[in-house]
Amino acid sequence: MNPRARVDSAPIPFIDVGAQRRRLGRSIDDAIARVTSHCQFLGGPEVAAFEADLAAFCGARYAVGCASGTDALMLVLMARGIGPGDAVLCPAFTFCATAEVVVLLGATPVFADVDPVTFNIDPSSLLRAVATAKRHGLNPKAVIPVDLFGLPADHDAIAAIAKSEGLYVLDDAAQGFGATYKGRKLGTLAPATATSFFPAKPLGCYGDGGAIVTDDSALVEMLRSLRVHGQGTDKYDNVRIGMTSRLDTIQAAVLIEKLKIFADEIDARDRVAQRYAAGLEDVSIVPVVPDGYTSIWAQYTIRFKPGIRDALAAKLKAEGIPTGIYYPKPLHRLEAYRSFPVVDNGIPVTDQLAEEVISLPMHAYLDPPTQDRVIDAVRAAIKP
Ligand SMILES: Cc1ncc(COP(=O)(O)O)c(C=O)c1O
Repeated sequence: MNPRARVDSAPIPFIDVGAQRRRLGRSIDDAIARVTSHCQFLGGPEVAAFEADLAAFCGARYAVGCASGTDALMLVLMARGIGPGDAVLCPAFTFCATAEVVVLLGATPVFADVDPVTFNIDPSSLLRAVATAKRHGLNPKAVIPVDLFGLPADHDAIAAIAKSEGLYVLDDAAQGFGATYKGRKLGTLAPATATSFFPAKPLGCYGDGGAIVTDDSALVEMLRSLRVHGQGTDKYDNVRIGMTSRLDTIQAAVLIEKLKIFADEIDARDRVAQRYAAGLEDVSIVPVVPDGYTSIWAQYTIRFKPGIRDALAAKLKAEGIPTGIYYPKPLHRLEAYRSFPVVDNGIPVTDQLAEEVISLPMHAYLDPPTQDRVIDAVRAAIKP
């Protein structure tokens, strides 16, 4: 085999966490070593330091670390007292955690449709979801918009509906953290924003982790209690039912180092997205970033007419190029979520997107030659 052919078909990673690890080098080793020397594995000084850095990064007053993005969502809903009889409105085109936390608290998710261009919750469908919830005898209490694939939802439109309908807004920014909407970073666009530090996320740690960002000091106090078993003045003075959901000190130490290069990585991700758009916009539907928005590009997701993407994925796989389908089944089609209400006239855009989307390798360290290999392979694979 000639060596050039071998390079051209060598498998490439979907997300290259190793490249970032190499860039961070000793700074991460030293940060972890500091924690293993002081041995405050929970509640060490790095946790508060990271929380302060994270809040400052997005221009919010507070950040509260916790054990995962799922817990971040859960803790806020717990703090709001969401429970049986309540409806929480959310898109069905998202990762299951968005609705899972609602069900775990005994409340009911009501699924709204998404916008075909942004893939995010469609404000007109959100309004219909309020009506649907009421028709089911539920109290619509909150909405969880998701900043899917890294692009912010239409937060102004959502805030206006939330105000008129009395809904609390919990932004699920697990995929979008770092992106901006009308000049403001996610974390400042809703009363509470949840994010995830799952390793593959744009700002990921070396295990599980999450955080809530907010300006609301009363919420912060409640979250700090809820994440340690509902503690009061101390951990053996339990004043409410809570859970165990702390951000480990080692993860906070890792995140402090990663946050230092995050802005630079955001620029790099954007360059990768631009190159994909230039190389693929004439042969696929490439993502659109509306004016006044930026995306963090958690995924680079393109669309084809139904029936094309599975063959495309197989051809790319044979050439060492991985792809992902987010999400092959929207939540209302999943066995665990099938019984929950969907806005009355259905959610056809969600169903259509689930048939058409395919995500390409995307990370800050995707170099132009490797990316061109992906672009060329996609173009060759879909040629009639
Ligand atoms: C939209 C969305 N919400 C919530 C989560 C949950 O985050 P975690 O995996 O940290 O619990 C994820 C993570 O994949 C996600 O993509």
